[in-house]
Amino acid sequence: MEKLTKIEELPFQLESYLMLGDAVIITDYKHIIVNVNKEFEKVTGYSGDSIIGEHARFMKSKMTPKSTYTSLKKMLSEGKPWSGVFVNRKKSGEIWHSSITISPIQVGMDVYFVGVFRELEQLKQGIYLSENKRIETQRELLKVLAISCEIRDPGIEEHLFRVQELTEMLITEHVQRHHLKIPKNTVHHIIHSSILHDIGKSGIPEGILYKPGPLTTYERKIIEMHPLMGVDIVNKFSKELHSELIFNQDIVRNIILYHHEKWDGTGYPNQLSGEDIPLEARIVAVVDVYDALTSRRPYKDSWTTEDALSFIYEQKGKHFDPFIVETFLDHFERKAIIS
Ligand SMILES: [Fe+2]
Repeated sequence: MEKLTKIEELPFQLESYLMLGDAVIITDYKHIIVNVNKEFEKVTGYSGDSIIGEHARFMKSKMTPKSTYTSLKKMLSEGKPWSGVFVNRKKSGEIWHSSITISPIQVGMDVYFVGVFRELEQLKQGIYLSENKRIETQRELLKVLAISCEIRDPGIEEHLFRVQELTEMLITEHVQRHHLKIPKNTVHHIIHSSILHDIGKSGIPEGILYKPGPLTTYERKIIEMHPLMGVDIVNKFSKELHSELIFNQDIVRNIILYHHEKWDGTGYPNQLSGEDIPLEARIVAVVDVYDALTSRRPYKDSWTTEDALSFIYEQKGKHFDPFIVETFLDHFERKAIIS
């Protein structure tokens, strides 16, 4: 292998890192390999002599998501250590999933990057899931949970999927429109968790939940307990599961607990108002009501899109966040112009 640059000597201050039991790679600030340890040679099959002076990217498999390198670059440029998962290739061509921590270390005027690998097969957590597979599994699990909690309601599946689709549209357009600095991951969590907004309904007696006529005050109070019951369900199963793999607990709790709060403070269960209601709950509130209005239920006909949108407009600043209503209505206006 032809060397890209003049080979640098490893500063003595960094020698002790090579004594670690895990595979270690040390590069200069341009990611040119300065040294590796025996464990690295053993795991990857590359001898140190053959790769010192190479750019560390030569091990890339093209299977590591771009976002991994973006977050790595960002952290290192800020002088902070970064941890993540690389999918590299060993000398044999075999794919190598490894968890790595890269720490910037200053020696005199120079910065070096010390990378400590752990093979994922050796991690106690068990099987490694790629980011895409993890997101897919997460989505499926949440779907199964949401449907099982509301299985008594025929047609609930369609309502839940529509709520999820509309939440995706609304949060995406709202973030773009107001240049909100919300990480992509958080947006994904909001979209996936929206399907769980009514899981607490599984704790409401059928006779009340599907009562065709008007509800008594007592029955209404029982129905209004569903956000609290939903949070209780989430608390129970998050104790049993390695839950951060499945959802962001704060987001899912906020959606379940606050999707019936109103902008003017007249909602339930906590009478929160304005921006005290978390954004994710304000978003789901609009799409949940819109979809309920436009769906046919045993006790009511479906409203037309125009009537439902007029109702949403009329509730702007009362039931709903006025800015979110604007994004929502603009979406339908654009759609109407296009069609
Ligand atoms: Fe609800």
